Amino acid sequence: MERLIIAGGDPLEGSIRISGAKNAALPILAASLLGDGPSFISNIPHLHDITTTMELLGRMGVGLTVDERMCIEVDPTTLTDPFAPYDLVKTMRASILVLGPLLARFGRADVSLPGGCAIGTRPVNLHVEGLRAMGAEIDVSGGYVRARCKRLRGARLIMDLVTVTGTENLMMAASLAEGETVIENAAREPEVVDLADYLNAMGAHVEGAGTDTIRIQGVERLAGTHYAVLPDRVETGTYLVAGAITGGRVLIKDTRPPLLEAVIAKLEEAGARIRSGDDWIELAMPGAKRPRAVSLRTAPYPGFPTDMQAQFCALNAVAEGVGMVSETVFENRFMHVNEMQRMGADIRLEGRTAVSTGVDRLTGAPVMATDLRASASLVLAGLVADGETYVDRIYHIDRGYECIEEKLAQLGARIRRVPA
Ligand code: EPU
Repeated sequence: MERLIIAGGDPLEGSIRISGAKNAALPILAASLLGDGPSFISNIPHLHDITTTMELLGRMGVGLTVDERMCIEVDPTTLTDPFAPYDLVKTMRASILVLGPLLARFGRADVSLPGGCAIGTRPVNLHVEGLRAMGAEIDVSGGYVRARCKRLRGARLIMDLVTVTGTENLMMAASLAEGETVIENAAREPEVVDLADYLNAMGAHVEGAGTDTIRIQGVERLAGTHYAVLPDRVETGTYLVAGAITGGRVLIKDTRPPLLEAVIAKLEEAGARIRSGDDWIELAMPGAKRPRAVSLRTAPYPGFPTDMQAQFCALNAVAEGVGMVSETVFENRFMHVNEMQRMGADIRLEGRTAVSTGVDRLTGAPVMATDLRASASLVLAGLVADGETYVDRIYHIDRGYECIEEKLAQLGARIRRVPA
């Protein structure tokens, strides 16, 4: 086990490059199973969730080659066993993304049910119902989803609620189904659009990704292709908050500013001055002042992302004034609040809202990471705390932030990784 030790107090200054988006790379790697030849996928971040996905695909018999720049060649033609076992799925819920592609391409899939996790119960009923509506026979028992079909049929799918991986699973399955599938109340997240772009590059006919109605005309076959994953908007947002919270100036390169509108609006409200170009964003805190507290509500894209909620709790903890952060996507995504209280934050939980009265300074303390974004928020809090903050269980961070301590150190942070 490892931990991060952060000595707080320095304004961050400098520039960093953003990695490929984890939440786009995962569905794209799963979608590569649909091809009848190899795909070459680049701009893949070097993260635990990616290695877990590679292990999952490898165990199925898929051929994988990785070069030194994390370009992965995935050859699904050698797949022998369409099976996602519990020991891998339990470490990464996104493994459920192989269900749709396996079923559509090979006519069968046995995928372990992901359990609940630190942020909520997170069922996959909508994935299963959608595939059933497309003609799959699915038995959910003994902790597994066992799905069988001849060829899936297109269907009109009205999603009860907006689900990102649910939309992705059904979109992938529909690409090889017979006839047209329409997904209504689809997720509009940029990662869904990136997956649609990849599917279309393979020869699929997907239209409307990025809106709440996606139409897919099924095709007989999909080919392997070359594709570069889009930049990570949550990583971008996290480093922007790092600049704002420390009263610094950061230049974030190789990103996509239009994907961060809701986050940038809140940073400006907090007092940040933001400039951006095609693929960069610069944030400065004029006069290196404390940020102002902001209030926000998480919502599916283009609303404020739940994956940035914890980071803004950290910002509010040291801001001037009172900020209210409401979580509407997951029922239990405030595990970071207790840990921030241990650092001296004045945050009160009222149902699904964190009401925070900013304090002048936090104090360093040993804290524990409970999930990916919560752990990022504790690192941010550590950057502005007096003294040293020890963040334990950082395997959560390594699931979603590539080289976090190197990138923060590049911005001048005093941070190091040590054995726990
Ligand atoms: N839901 C259901 N039934 C379903 C599917 C979802 O009730 O069949 C509920 C969930 O329990 C949740 C809500 O719908 O309350 C939305 O969940 P969604 O399905 O959209 O989440 P997800 O697809 O499992 C993805 C990201 C998450 C991100 C959410 C919301 C990936 C691999 N994961 O999860 O990312 O928070 O969308 O934007 O894309 C992260 O990166 O830290 C992370 C957790």
